[in-house]
Amino acid sequence: MIKAPRGTADILPSEIYKWDYVEKVAKDTAKCFGFSEIKTPVFEQTDLFQRGVGDTTDVVQKEMYTFSDKGDRSITLRPEGTASAARAYLEHSLYALPAPVKLFYDIACYRYEKPQAGRMREFHQFGAEMYGNAEAAADAEIIAFAAAIFKNLGITGLSLNINSIGCKECRKNYNDALLKYLTDNSENLCETCHERLKKNPMRVLDCKSPICKGIASGAPSILDFICDDCKAHFEEVQRRLRNMDVEFSIDPSIVRGLDYYTRTVFEFVSTTIGAQGTVCGGGRYDNLIESIGGKPTPGIGFAMGLERILLVMESIGVPFPESPKPDIYIAALGQFEFAEKLLSELRAKGIWAERDISERSLKVQMKNADRCGAKFSVVIGDDEVKEAKAAIKNMQSGEAQKIDLNAEEIRSYIKKLEESNGND
Ligand code: HAM
Repeated sequence: MIKAPRGTADILPSEIYKWDYVEKVAKDTAKCFGFSEIKTPVFEQTDLFQRGVGDTTDVVQKEMYTFSDKGDRSITLRPEGTASAARAYLEHSLYALPAPVKLFYDIACYRYEKPQAGRMREFHQFGAEMYGNAEAAADAEIIAFAAAIFKNLGITGLSLNINSIGCKECRKNYNDALLKYLTDNSENLCETCHERLKKNPMRVLDCKSPICKGIASGAPSILDFICDDCKAHFEEVQRRLRNMDVEFSIDPSIVRGLDYYTRTVFEFVSTTIGAQGTVCGGGRYDNLIESIGGKPTPGIGFAMGLERILLVMESIGVPFPESPKPDIYIAALGQFEFAEKLLSELRAKGIWAERDISERSLKVQMKNADRCGAKFSVVIGDDEVKEAKAAIKNMQSGEAQKIDLNAEEIRSYIKKLEESNGND
């Protein structure tokens, strides 16, 4: 039997309503923060990620799905959304719009990683990017946006950890100190880290090898090297977050695994879903747009992993709204063609109406009505058609009421009852 590729998952109808719910809450929150959706291609020219994400990162070195297409172009399935959104921002001159330009995306991403709980090869991100503002208020706003999504989903117990990794200038001093420390301890570093040491020592800090991790834990802290401007910026971010009642801790070990970050970086972490506990990561990237061919433009954003959000919600028992159920089941006793017409009229009015396609006995039809969880049912036989009236039965309470047998009557009856029950 052919199975789905390793590290991918089918999302079945029995689960999809949870995804729909999480995505809806995230999108509704985006509206409150004034972000608009952008859709970009699933694949891009490989060069975009090499230049944007950085060719010394794990993502680019080890995890990309890269192939040559039939025209011999190097193509990569997007491993993340930031580089693609930045490319689209440039390509469509979105910088001509008044700043800030605020975009969100809800996408599938691809990374060739070792699959485990919360780590997939195809996974889904809800992310947001804000371009054009370097002020600390932008950093606080983007972090507050991510925090609001978690709050609106009813997720509690996440810790928000923030750090500043400074600008190009402070990074120079830090890199020198880091290089010295890592060179002194280079004997046991893995082969890839030896390479990283030459090109970009900071990338050694996010190596997944336990030995490299141990060495990284004793490395100098970036916060001891950031310049006065970056320090003031970071302090202002903290002040703004406090002002918006967003709780956080400072964690100087956060450097993030992608090259484009400058200044503020942050992660929302759960302790309830195992080793892959980072549900959201993000930060400022004031050099990214320039590195892919634009004018220097500040930017900041985040992305949250939808698989991990769902794992957290399940692990802490956050309730999901019930999966939607049919509004009405139309059962027929002989009068199948009449029922069929009525069904199509009801559906045209936006009512979810079910029936038995195989036109079996009334007993089977009523069993089906129960099984699919229909809210109401109607039985249409010769008498109902003759009288042009039928009993509409509330499947939960068992109450029934005779109403005119036409689609508009049925629709308004259902809507009226739903409204009085407070459903939408
Ligand atoms: P990232 O930390 O690589 O950042 O990924 C963001 C989130 O995507 C992670 O916190 C995690 O929840 C989820 N994620 C990443 N890899 C996997 C995986 N293999 N399986 C399941 N979930 C995963 C970025 O991608 C940046 N583009 C975020 C950003 C946006 N920074 C600025 N703007």
